[in-house]
Amino acid sequence: MDYKLGLIGHPIGHSLSPWIHAQFLDLAGLDGEYKLYEGDHQQLPKVLKHLKQEELDGFNVTVPYKQVIVDFLDEIDEDAKVLGAVNTVVSVNGKWKGYSTDGAGYIRSLTEPFPNLLNKNTSVLLLGAGGAARGIYRALIQQQIGRVDIANRSANKAEQLIASMRLPDIDSQVLSFQEAEEQLANYDLIIQTTSVGMKPHIAKQVISLANLSADAVVSDIVYQPIMTQLLQDASARGAAIHHGHAMLLYQGQLAFEKWTGHTLEINHLVDELEKKLRGENN
Ligand SMILES: NC(=O)c1ccc[n+]([C@@H]2O[C@H](COP(=O)([O-])OP(=O)(O)OC[C@H]3O[C@@H](n4cnc5c(N)ncnc54)[C@H](OP(=O)(O)O)[C@@H]3O)[C@@H](O)[C@H]2O)c1
Repeated sequence: MDYKLGLIGHPIGHSLSPWIHAQFLDLAGLDGEYKLYEGDHQQLPKVLKHLKQEELDGFNVTVPYKQVIVDFLDEIDEDAKVLGAVNTVVSVNGKWKGYSTDGAGYIRSLTEPFPNLLNKNTSVLLLGAGGAARGIYRALIQQQIGRVDIANRSANKAEQLIASMRLPDIDSQVLSFQEAEEQLANYDLIIQTTSVGMKPHIAKQVISLANLSADAVVSDIVYQPIMTQLLQDASARGAAIHHGHAMLLYQGQLAFEKWTGHTLEINHLVDELEKKLRGENN
């Protein structure tokens, strides 16, 4: 079977997904292609009609269509429904079902290098309350992590995020960045999900790590640059670090699994993707 896969979004010219899924097809020994389908808001219905006619097996959805795509689906997975966002669509007999693989992909990317990190005693600080934070927060809570607190520039968004998850027994506090800095030593894992530190503003970091525990893991989902200011700082303080491009790869692995049924061993590709990102962008 020749898999027909792709990505919709705008702009997507520099997307790494075609490279990632070409590696996955290769690893799985499958034939297929992963194409970019770009269009602005006005063109979106036409682009989606084209995907239906082409009988794609599945496609990814990226910015700015992760929310609006919901209106074009036949079915939506429960987690994606609660998140209000879809990044993966699977076509079965022409019917489209939407999923969100960001949160679960993030967890996979983290537990691969740190298999014992997440358990009921783990204390997590999530920095940010945007779209990516929502998926990661939900996936963490589903892992029954001891505590997940959120610090965000706009406190109301963090409050809304927690309230919208419809999960019982959540032990989460909303903190200001200043409070997060002061209480940093209490956390085993700090996950940076804001866009702060992203190219071209690479000298920025969202909070100071002065009170970081040397046993903590610091994770930054920003992957351009690979080594953000926050990760450099964490590393200099002796903490272990986790990079954003690993999440990119594993959310793709999960999408590929939904499309093809193949669960691939992809850990070696984390370094390959890093080389590619450094070669092209850094
Ligand atoms: N590695 C991956 O696979 C992956 C996947 C998805 C996203 N990402 C990256 O994650 C980042 C966030 O993406 P998103 O989709 O969640 O974006 P989003 O929904 O727009 O959320 C942006 C977040 O950043 C915060 N923020 C923005 N500017 C800030 C500033 N100057 N100071 C403090 N906080 C600031 C926002 O705070 P407010 O609520 O106060 O506005 C919000 O929490 C992007 O860099 C994106 O490239 C990576």
